[in-house]
Amino acid sequence: MNILILGGGGREHALAWAVKQNPKCDRLIVAPGNAGIALIAETAAIAPCEAAAVLACVEENAIDFVIIGPEAPLAAGVADALRAAGILCFGPSAAAAQLESSKAFTKEVCDACGAPTAAWARFSDLDAAKDYVRAQGAPIVVKADGLAAGKGVIVAMTLDEALSGLDEIFGGAFGAAGAEVVIEEFMGGEEASFFILSDGTNVLPIGTAQDHKRVGDGDTGPNTGGMGAYSPAPVLTPAIQEQVLAQIVRPTVAEMAARGMPFQGVLYAGLMIEHGRARLVEYNVRFGDPECQVLMLRLGAQALDLMLACAEGRLAEVSATWAEDHALTVVLAAKGYPGAYVKGTEIKGLGTLPADSFNMVFHAGTAAQDGKVLATGGRVLNVTARGTTLQEAQTRAYAMVDAIDWPEGFCRHDIGWRAL
Ligand code: AMP
Ligand code: GLY
Repeated sequence: MNILILGGGGREHALAWAVKQNPKCDRLIVAPGNAGIALIAETAAIAPCEAAAVLACVEENAIDFVIIGPEAPLAAGVADALRAAGILCFGPSAAAAQLESSKAFTKEVCDACGAPTAAWARFSDLDAAKDYVRAQGAPIVVKADGLAAGKGVIVAMTLDEALSGLDEIFGGAFGAAGAEVVIEEFMGGEEASFFILSDGTNVLPIGTAQDHKRVGDGDTGPNTGGMGAYSPAPVLTPAIQEQVLAQIVRPTVAEMAARGMPFQGVLYAGLMIEHGRARLVEYNVRFGDPECQVLMLRLGAQALDLMLACAEGRLAEVSATWAEDHALTVVLAAKGYPGAYVKGTEIKGLGTLPADSFNMVFHAGTAAQDGKVLATGGRVLNVTARGTTLQEAQTRAYAMVDAIDWPEGFCRHDIGWRAL
């Protein structure tokens, strides 16, 4: 079959890498892709949010199946446009994608189905929000309701931080996403991610992971899109996974179906685990980036069969199999990220690295020019390895990092520390 993947980051490189290994895949196009993706698939210069351009590409290339990587096209209704045209597609409708695109929507769904999460309130008025924050006290969490590229959340340890966060959001720092705020109880504990496929009715867990959101070693410095990840996350024990499926995921999927907006795609549950029990922090409606990279290295070619079964409503018929292994990814970012950074610097040494089912460098923000690989984004490479132990995966990944010649880049040196 001919397959189109929408997106151009490390997540989409990992999806393309897994899909490409499956004999069911004939042609593979990734739009827009990047320099690493171009080594294994065709690329097309199409913006993933432009439904008309996506549909034209599907028609022109006789595409049978579309996999949507990022949240923006999902929130923009690209999956709806594809399904309306009779195209098989992996990813939720815009209505179901509200589980990521509106924090207040998710909280209402949790309340309606009894899923454990932080106590919350919503406000569209600054003074009322400030009164509530003063009454609750710190620590407290203030969030812009809408999509804000992961930046609209202020975990305030003091009242002043919470109040200035509210000023910032209502002052327009996040545009329309900040027209409303959600204010939440601060939850302590350890954070981990659980990935579950849903075909609207059935659910199938496909792995756990832990991200490293802070830019600096030892979880210091500002938040980022994620500086590294590993899978599995031992804090999500089999018993806690069962609790999450029973109390959070299955009730959510049932509630969404009851609302007439069945969720089809991957549900990424961000969880806080404390005293042996998980509560929901948030949902995302797509794979995590860089969590997808470690999941794909562990799942390999079967990822395509699972996504197809999900899109075709056959999830009850399939199961996921894993070796008892571990995967870890280290993000190489441009110096300065998540603040201002220089673009266009050259990365050398990639050609000498192994590329197999144990060692893969996924590209996140790169472009090819005159035979050179140039850095074009903040997060640029995801150096990913697998091993029988997490230690082995970590050693392999950092050996590859050492072989990459990119003076303008940096990485964290402690990815995996919580589990090791
Ligand atoms: P979100 O964009 O909702 O994932 O929030 C970003 C990060 O803020 C999360 O990954 C958590 O680390 C933190 N966070 C969000 N909500 C809470 C909460 N209620 N309590 C503690 N930390 C939170
Ligand atoms: N790595 C966090 C995310 O994908 O949202």
